[in-house]
Formats: sequence, structure tokens, C-alpha cells
Amino acid sequence: MKRAKDNNVAVIGLGYVGLPVALICAENGYNVFGIDLDKEKLKKIKKGTSPFKEDFIQRRKEWLKKIAVSDKGDKIKKADIVVVCVPTPVDKNFYPNLKPIISATKMIIENINKGQLVIIESTVNPGVCEEVIEPIFKEAGLKEGRDYYLAHCPERIDPGKSRFSKGFDLVNTNRVVGAMSKKGLKRAVNFYESILSGEVRPMKSIRAAEAVKIVENSFRDINLAFVNELARSFDRMGIDVKDVIEGAATKPYSFMPHWPSCGVGGHCIPVDPYYLIERAKEGGFDHKLLRMARETNNEMPSYTVELLQDALNELKLPLKGVTIGIMGLAYKPNVDDTRESPSFKIMDLLEEKGAKVVTYDPLVPGKSTVKDLKTFLKKSTAVIFATEHQEFLEMDLGDFKKYGVLAIIDGKNYLDSEKIKALGINYHGIGRA
Ligand SMILES: NC(=O)c1ccc[n+]([C@@H]2O[C@H](COP(=O)([O-])OP(=O)(O)OC[C@H]3O[C@@H](n4cnc5c(N)ncnc54)[C@H](O)[C@@H]3O)[C@@H](O)[C@H]2O)c1
Repeated sequence: MKRAKDNNVAVIGLGYVGLPVALICAENGYNVFGIDLDKEKLKKIKKGTSPFKEDFIQRRKEWLKKIAVSDKGDKIKKADIVVVCVPTPVDKNFYPNLKPIISATKMIIENINKGQLVIIESTVNPGVCEEVIEPIFKEAGLKEGRDYYLAHCPERIDPGKSRFSKGFDLVNTNRVVGAMSKKGLKRAVNFYESILSGEVRPMKSIRAAEAVKIVENSFRDINLAFVNELARSFDRMGIDVKDVIEGAATKPYSFMPHWPSCGVGGHCIPVDPYYLIERAKEGGFDHKLLRMARETNNEMPSYTVELLQDALNELKLPLKGVTIGIMGLAYKPNVDDTRESPSFKIMDLLEEKGAKVVTYDPLVPGKSTVKDLKTFLKKSTAVIFATEHQEFLEMDLGDFKKYGVLAIIDGKNYLDSEKIKALGINYHGIGRA
């Protein structure tokens, strides 16, 4: 492991991205300062407990207390490197919200340590570093390459270990780095090589590094939209889309399986494409394909409710007044992150249509309406399976029958459909006819 001269690192934003980064810096011998506006989160970190359920953090719990945390920026003065990991959400009209990035930039400027390397890890569209962040420094009389250095290293962490990123984590995943100056690039590459075992690839420009992340997530969004569209089409043709994708995936090249579902959630995939769409608009380019992919994926919660209505019709039951259970609130398995989770969109649609809704997620007890699976199943006439948490996958499918569930919409195509049908329960997957 190479060790750079820079010994002191400040991380701004201690969320799903920033906290693991702070921990691996501490683990690799850096003095780490952690800055976050959320005082509750800081209290937990100070006590040595993780503010969220995340395996990568649990395994490094001993380092939590080594992070000198604060809700103020003054510790930035001591840092050689500042890593910015604040959120980059969209507003209700899907317009990028750069306020957290802008306020973090201002916090750095107020506390600048001359020659400091500032690395943006938050996902941003191409141009944000040069068109938004650098001008704020410039206005404060600070020149890139003289008073500070600006670099971008998009984060690729996949919290909760999905089936796609098996074997990869923050440490062994390759990264790309772009910077505004050669010196900044060299320092940033050195820094990441000192904390990671994955390859660190220098990019030709900071814009190219920004574009990499948006491209990765847009690639997923488009492919997900494709299989979601196939699911809806194949439902009408009586073809099992899961079987088709598994079949196509036997081709050893030029096909990468993606899976349809009740919706695309999280802080990245349903958000990042909008950053590119909006920035491209400014240059007079319309990303039609990306817009369409977003629309297609945004429709999946309402398609799921349609499937449920069809299932209830088959059972001669109305949706109005019937209790529907939503099983899983997190947007993906084995995490407690509910950002942009389709479960909440499904819940709103069901309530609009007069259904009663109960929810259960063992990792999100604060937002669940019942405390345990048994109560959940007892109350639910039909269930929408929305998150493939381990606890759900380990349950006895016979319990659905035992507690009186009449229909299941498998929003993740994860349950054993044959077994459920054999129990006499009405089963529909997404695109599984
Ligand atoms: N979560 C992921 O899987 C993931 C993966 C790759 C990239 N990203 C990107 O990383 C960035 C951070 O995402 P996250 O999931 O860690 O978000 P998060 O919401 O979990 O964490 C962000 C943290 O920043 C804090 N914060 C907000 N504004 C601040 C400010 N001005 N000063 C100090 N702290 C501030 C918040 O309190 C929060 O604790 C986003 O741009 C996201 O797109 C996320």
C-alpha cells in the first residue's frame, strides 16, 4: 500500500458513502475528521455505533471512535485532503438539487488550509466541478492549482451487498479519478491507492470522471427499463420474462442480465440520469432514451398495483376496503435505506384507491405499521413482496397460507412461484404471466 504525504483527511457528509470512506481512511492510518449536519448521527458515531445497518461498517466498528466528528467545519483547517460525500438529490419535479454540494464548498472555503486537495465523491453531472464548484472558490479569491486542488472520484459503493456486486466492496472495487490540474490528479490517485486495493484509473479530465458515474447508473436505468418493458409485454403474451432472461444469459458474451421489478429505488439509479438530462438540455441536447427509461421505470409501481387488482378480480375481491400488505420498505435487500423506494409509491397508490395498507420491514421498524411477520401476514389479504430481505427469503412459504394470504404479487420475482401456486395462493410476478 502506497502512503501519501497527506496525513489528515476530513470527510464532509457521513452517510452511506462518507462513513465507510472515513473508516477506511482511519484503518489506513490517516487522522480523520468527520463533518455532518446531523447531530444524532454524530452522537452515534462518537459512541462507536453505526447510524445505519451496513455490514461493511459493522466489520469496522472499532474505527468509528477514531473519527473526530463535528457538525462545524473548523476541523477542515487541519486537513490535507477534504472528501465531499454530501447528497445530490432531485426535487419533486426531478430537477437536480446542488444545495448540499454548494454549502459544503462554502464550508471548505471558510476553513481552507492552503494547498488542500478537495475531492468530490458525490455523484454530479459533467460540468459541476468546473461550472459550479470552482467558480465559488474563484469568487472567494482562491485559485485552483495554487490555493487548493480540485478532483472528482465518483463513489461506486453498493451498500447491503446485492447479488450483482458479490465479492466487491469499497476497498477492492476499481475507481476512476479526474482532476483540474496534473498535481491534483497525482495527489488524488496517490490517496486512493493508499486506501484501496482496486485499480485507480486517472481520467483525461474532471468532466470525464463526472460523466463515468452518470453513465454507469444510466446504463443500469436503461437496461432496467428495457426488462421492465419486456415484463409488461410478455405478461400479455403468456411468456415468463425471468425464464427468457435466464435463457438469454446463457450466451457467454454481449448479454448482461437485468431483472424487472415493482420499481427502481435508491439515491442513485432513479436520480442520476436526471442530472445528465438537465445538463444536456442546457447544451440543447435532448436525452430522449434516458427520459423514456425514467418514465418506464417510474411506471412500475402503478403496474404492480394493476397486477394486484387483476389478482383480486380473479378472487372476486374489491381493492377498496381490503387490507394489502407491503412486504419490505427498503429499496433493496438487507439495508435500511428507503430513499426513492417503490414501496412508498405503491402504498400511496393503494391508499388512493381505498385499500387499507399494512407494512413490514425488519430493517425499517420505524416506518413499518406492524412489528413482526406473523402479525403482518395475519392482517394481509394480499401481499406485495417488495424487498428480498434475507429474513423473508428464509421464511416458510407455508406461512402465507397458514395466516390466510390469498394473493401474492412478487415485485422482485424472487419467491418460488410453483410452491406458492401449489399452496392454492394466487401468484403473479412482474412479467411472469
Ligand atoms: N448510497 C449509495 O449507494 C451511493 C453509491 C454511490 C454514490 N452515491 C452518491 O454519494 C453521495 C452521498 O450519498 P449517501 O448515500 O452517502 O447520502 P446520505 O444521505 O446517506 O449521506 C449524506 C450525509 O451528508 C450529510 N450532509 C448533507 N448536507 C451536508 C452539508 N452541507 N454538510 C455536511 N454534511 C451534510 C447528511 O446529513 C448525511 O448524513 C450522493 O451524491 C450519492 O448519489 C451514493
